[in-house]
Amino acid sequence: MGILFDEGKQTFSISTKCSTYQFMLDPHGFLLHLYYGKRISGNAGYLLKYLDRGFSGNPACVVNDRTFSMDVLPQELPAWGSGDFRSPAFVVEKEDGTRSVDLRYVTHTIRTGKYGLPGLPAVYVNEDDTAESETLEIVLKDSVLSLEVHLLYGVLPELDVITRAIQVRNKGAETVYLDKLLPASLDFITGEYDLLTFHGRHTMERLVQRMTIGYSEERIGSRRGASSHQHNPMLVIAEKETTDTFGDCYAMQFVYSGGFQAEALKDQFGTTRVQIGLQEEGFHYPVATGETFTSPEVILSFSRDGFDKLSHNLHDLIRDHICRGKFKNRPRPVLVNSWEGSLWNIDKNSLLSLAREAKGIGADMLVVDDGWFGNRDDDNSSLGDWYANEKKLGGTLGSLIEEVNRIGLKYGLWFEPEMISEQSRLYEMHPDWALQIPGRVPIRGRNQLVLDFSRKEVRDYIYDAICAILDSGNIEYIKWDYNRSIFDVYSEAADHQGRVLYDYMLGVYEFLENLTNQYPDVLIEGCSGGGGRYDAGMLYYTPQIWTSDNTDPIDRMLIQYGTSFGYPASTLAAHVSKSPNEQTGRVTPISTRGIAAMYGSFGYELDLALLTEEEKQEAREQIATYHRYEDLILSGDYYRLSDPAKDAFCGWSFVAKDGTEALVSAVILRLCSNDEIFYVKPKGLKSGCIYMEEETGDCYDADLLMSAGLPLPKEAGEHRAYQFHFILQPE
Ligand code: DGJ
Repeated sequence: MGILFDEGKQTFSISTKCSTYQFMLDPHGFLLHLYYGKRISGNAGYLLKYLDRGFSGNPACVVNDRTFSMDVLPQELPAWGSGDFRSPAFVVEKEDGTRSVDLRYVTHTIRTGKYGLPGLPAVYVNEDDTAESETLEIVLKDSVLSLEVHLLYGVLPELDVITRAIQVRNKGAETVYLDKLLPASLDFITGEYDLLTFHGRHTMERLVQRMTIGYSEERIGSRRGASSHQHNPMLVIAEKETTDTFGDCYAMQFVYSGGFQAEALKDQFGTTRVQIGLQEEGFHYPVATGETFTSPEVILSFSRDGFDKLSHNLHDLIRDHICRGKFKNRPRPVLVNSWEGSLWNIDKNSLLSLAREAKGIGADMLVVDDGWFGNRDDDNSSLGDWYANEKKLGGTLGSLIEEVNRIGLKYGLWFEPEMISEQSRLYEMHPDWALQIPGRVPIRGRNQLVLDFSRKEVRDYIYDAICAILDSGNIEYIKWDYNRSIFDVYSEAADHQGRVLYDYMLGVYEFLENLTNQYPDVLIEGCSGGGGRYDAGMLYYTPQIWTSDNTDPIDRMLIQYGTSFGYPASTLAAHVSKSPNEQTGRVTPISTRGIAAMYGSFGYELDLALLTEEEKQEAREQIATYHRYEDLILSGDYYRLSDPAKDAFCGWSFVAKDGTEALVSAVILRLCSNDEIFYVKPKGLKSGCIYMEEETGDCYDADLLMSAGLPLPKEAGEHRAYQFHFILQPE
C-alpha cells in the first residue's frame, strides 16, 4: 500500500487497501493516466495504444510520429494548448490573451504524511497516524511561461481515499491568469459508465440523478458563489450494473464551498473523462511573478462493493479527517430552535417560555435564531449590526443567557456574518463594503447584499463584532447562516476582479479558522437557507450543517437519502417541526417526525407550547431514545435500505462498527388499501449470528433477516414510521 515509483517502467502507483491509481511518465515528459480501480500489482502501460488518428495533432517533440497525440492519450492534467480538444482541466492566459500551456515533468518527491493546503480546508491526518498517509508531489514546468505546476497527491490507504490538489507558481516575468482549474481529472481508457449527481433547489436538496456518460459533455455546477442547493460538489461514477451492494464505483468530492463545476464526457474514441474543480465563469485569477496559487483539493475514493461501501469510505473520512474540534466525535446537544415556531417574533418572555418547555421535554439547548439583533423584525434590515436588541430581549443578551442557563439549558445563537442589509448602521458607514459593481444597482437576494469578505478590514470588523457578542455570555453554539447567491462581483480592494470570488471564499475560511481557534468549545452549525452550502469545505469548520429548510419528514426522506451518499449522519442536523408542516402542509404523526429526525444531530423547531400533553410526553421519550442511540447514529455504519424515490417506504440503518447492534428505521411513504406487505432488509449484520429485537424480544437469524427481510406492521394511518433495535446475541 502507499505510493511507489517504478524507475524501470517510469510508472507511479498509488495503492490503497482495495484500489490502485496508476499513471506513467512518458519519454517526452508528459504524465499519462493509466488506471484507477480494483487494487492491482501489475503495470497497466500495455493499455495504451498509439494510432494515427486524423485531425488529432502531434506535439513537436515527437517529430513525425503521427501516432502520438495528446488529443487521444489519457492524461493526469489535461491542459489547454497541449493538442487535447477534450474538456481541459487547466487553462492559463497571458496578458495578451494567448492561451497555451505545455507542461513537462521536472521532478517528484514521495514523503510520509499528507500534505496540507495553506488557507484552505483539506483532509488531515492525526499526528499519531501520519505514518499511514503519504504524499506524492510532482513538479511540472512550462518553460515558455516559466510556470511551475505542482501536482499533489495524498493517500489514506486504509480508507481507500486519494486526494488531489494543484499549486501553480509563476517564476516568469509577467502575470498569468488562471482561467480554469479542475484539480482532479480522471480518464478511464475502457468501460461504460453512469454518473450520479446530487441536484436540487432551496428546500429540496441533493436529489439523486443517474445518467449515462455518453458522447456529449455533461456539465453540472454552481455559478452562485456558493456550492449551492442546485448541485452538490460531489459525483459518483459507476459501472452500469452497480447498485448499493454490488459493483465498481468511484467518488469525487470537492473540498470547497464556493462555485464549482464538474464535467463528464466520452471522447470520440471511447475514453471517459470526469473532472471536478473551480467554476470557470467566475474565475480569471492573476498569478503575478513570484506568486503561488493553491487550489482546493478533491477527494477520490473507490469501492468494488457498490455505493454503500463508497459512502462508508467517505463517511469515515469526513468524520475523522475533515471534521475537527471538540464535537467531531462527541454527542451533539439536542436543541430547540426558535425559527419555525416564532420566526422574528421573539422577545424575552417567549424565549424563556420556550426554554422552560424545552427543559420540560429534556432538550439540552435553546437556540435563538434570526431576529435578536439590530432592528431586525423581518428580513429587510439589520444584517451587519451585530448588537443585541435589548428592547426585545428585555435586557442584555448576557442576562437572558444567564436566565436560560438557570432553567438548565445551554444557549445558542444565530448569525449571518457574510451579509449586510442596506437598512443597517453598517451600510450607512461603509456602503463600499458590500459587493456591488460601480454604476450598477445591485441585484438583491432576500433584500440583502453580500459583504466583501475578500477584504481583511471587512472581516476584521465583523469578527470583532461577533466576538463581542460571544464574550457577552455563555454562548455554546453558533448557527452560521448564508442566505443568498452572489451576483455582483466587484471588490474595491482587488487588483483584478477575476480573483474576487476565490478570495472571498479564502476570507470566509480564514474567518472560520480564527473563530474556531478562539472559541474551541463552541459548536458551529453551518447553514445556507438549509443545505445551500453542504460540502466538505464547510464541514472542516462546522461539524454539522442544517440539512434543509424543509422539515417535512416525508420530503426529508429524499433529502437525507441523497445526502447520505457523500456525507455521514453526524454532519446532518434534523429537527422535529409542527404538523401540518410549514413548507408542505402535510400532516404526519409526531412519532414519524421523531424517527425521521433521528438521522443525525437531533432537535425540535416548533412552538412546544402548542403540543398536547401526550405529544410532549412523546417528545420526552424521543429525546431519551435519541440519547440511547446517539453513538450508533453518529458513529455507526450507515446503510440505505430502500430508494425513497421508487419504493413505498424509506428504510435506513446504523450498524455498530463491531456489529453488536443495529438500529433499523422505516417510514411509510405511500399507503393504499389491501396492499402487499413491505419487508425491510437490514444490511451489515454479522453473518451466522443471531440478533434479538429489543422491544419484542424476538430473535432472528442475521442471514435470514438480511436476505428475506423483516415485515413492517400493517397499520392504517398516513406515514407511519418504525424503529427496530437489534442486539447481537452471544454464541
Ligand atoms: C435560513 C435558515 O435556513 C433558517 O433555518 C433560519 O435560520 C432563517 N434563515 C433565518 O433567517
